[in-house]
Amino acid sequence: MKYHVPVLLHESVEGLNIIPNGIYVDATFGGGGHSSSILEKISTGKLFGFDQDEDAKKNSPHDSKFTFVHHNFRYLKNFLTYYKSPKVDGILADLGVSSHHFDTAERGFSFRFASDLDMRMDKKNTKTAQTIVNTYNEEQLTFIFKEFGEILNARKLARTIIEERELNPINTTEDLKKIGQRFSNPKTESKYLSQIFQALRIEVNNEIEVLKDFLVAGLDVLKPKGRFVVITYHSLEDRLVKNFFKTGNIEGKINKDFYGNIETPFEIIAKKIITPSDEELSVNNRARSAKLRIAEKK
Ligand SMILES: C[S@@+](CC[C@H](N)C(=O)[O-])C[C@H]1O[C@@H](n2cnc3c(N)ncnc32)[C@H](O)[C@@H]1O
Repeated sequence: MKYHVPVLLHESVEGLNIIPNGIYVDATFGGGGHSSSILEKISTGKLFGFDQDEDAKKNSPHDSKFTFVHHNFRYLKNFLTYYKSPKVDGILADLGVSSHHFDTAERGFSFRFASDLDMRMDKKNTKTAQTIVNTYNEEQLTFIFKEFGEILNARKLARTIIEERELNPINTTEDLKKIGQRFSNPKTESKYLSQIFQALRIEVNNEIEVLKDFLVAGLDVLKPKGRFVVITYHSLEDRLVKNFFKTGNIEGKINKDFYGNIETPFEIIAKKIITPSDEELSVNNRARSAKLRIAEKK
């Protein structure tokens, strides 16, 4: 089984505007699809590939220009300093999980397989999806289903989970699937379960807070004219990236100078959001929600 098929490969790597002796970061190395393409374009430059999942390490190319960093990309700045490359010419992030995660039953990311409810990208973390469904209170569960899963009846679902766990702990994908099936019919089931699983996965891996830290660190480590290229798969993530590129701050607060001009550290390179072509979608359905944004540090 292929580890992962890279999404928006050509568009995102072109977006980095690579200079052959530049220093680049692939913040989400995964199967290394984007990294291979970056390496083809650099001669004396360097590439750092971050991934918090140790499984990704085995995909590392045998190339002296490449360094695999088995850490969370929120610590980008610290690790670049450690590797004596504190400033870089471009950063690419292809957020979320890989096909490897969805297709490996025991990782617990997919309702297609029976498994413990795990969903950790970094197996060293202690919080799993099991922890969340069995310990979060009604408010917390409602929040994550609504915000991260965009589930309309989030509160009802949260209440049902709490009622069920009082009878028996919810430990497996099958346990959770049975609850989700009560709120859906065969036509809506797959979408509804995907929303539940997505919400839990985002919470398990603290994906939104981590993304905020990463964006701030990315701006800091980019050289002037350095490119920031981000592929998102969820509207919450996309909104954060969009507002950050527009304003240079996480709150998306617009600052203006004395003359009323918007002050921002970035120039937006792709004015219109970039999405996969019909051709790409016909061969990779998992690319369907991808959105690409590109900005250049001034
Ligand atoms: C969508 S996949 C990237 C696939 C990759 N672009 C490719 O072409 O194979 C996302 C990868 O980023 C990793 N990842 C997600 N969030 C991360 C984080 N905060 N820090 C480090 N790695 C992360 C995941 O473990 C996963 O392998």
